[in-house]
Amino acid sequence: MLRKRIAVFASGFGSNLQAIMDFAGKEDLGGEISLVFSNKGNSLALKRARENQVKTACLDPSGFTNRVEFDRAILELLKSEKIDLVVLAGYMLLLSPVLVEYYSNRIINIHPALLPSFKGTHGMKDAFNYGVKVSGVTVHFVDSELDSGPIILQEAVNIKENDSLEDFEKRIHAVEHRIYPRAVQLFCHEKLRIEGRKVRILV
Ligand code: GRF
Repeated sequence: MLRKRIAVFASGFGSNLQAIMDFAGKEDLGGEISLVFSNKGNSLALKRARENQVKTACLDPSGFTNRVEFDRAILELLKSEKIDLVVLAGYMLLLSPVLVEYYSNRIINIHPALLPSFKGTHGMKDAFNYGVKVSGVTVHFVDSELDSGPIILQEAVNIKENDSLEDFEKRIHAVEHRIYPRAVQLFCHEKLRIEGRKVRILV
């Protein structure tokens, strides 16, 4: 089985990127992080990538006439790097169909809530403020709708009686950093089979 070439897209802090890079240093991820892409030149994610000797690329959407042109440029970049899997890790822009269709079933995302509840940019905070007792983390394939593709992994996180948002956030991130590398590994080892809305994990 050929090792997969992975591109991680990140706009900000990059702790999930870090978790995947750390995992790859210890276990057989089944692929290499060949590229880290960001829309923000000053993102910590790019710095983390450079510190790990991972190739980086940055494009600013304001330099393009529209989002489709921007995503076309990204697509050319991904093709030139022969990328097999796109991992969204805190990438704050919506992907246009140009990317989603070309990389159909080969883009994954992590969301800090139990989908289909609390979709959107503030899933973790929205769940906390709603007062749910259980929320969690979802890793899913990306399709044309927001936070709606087939679910790969999910793990619940309890909201404890005296939790502040920060307490809860720490536990959400800890789960993210544990399950996202595993999901990438499952993809790279071709252990994921999409059957309609369901993702079967081959053992
Ligand atoms: C994570 O909470 C992830 O679930 C969401 O964006 C956040 C990114 O965090 N999609 P980081 O940049 O990986 O630290």
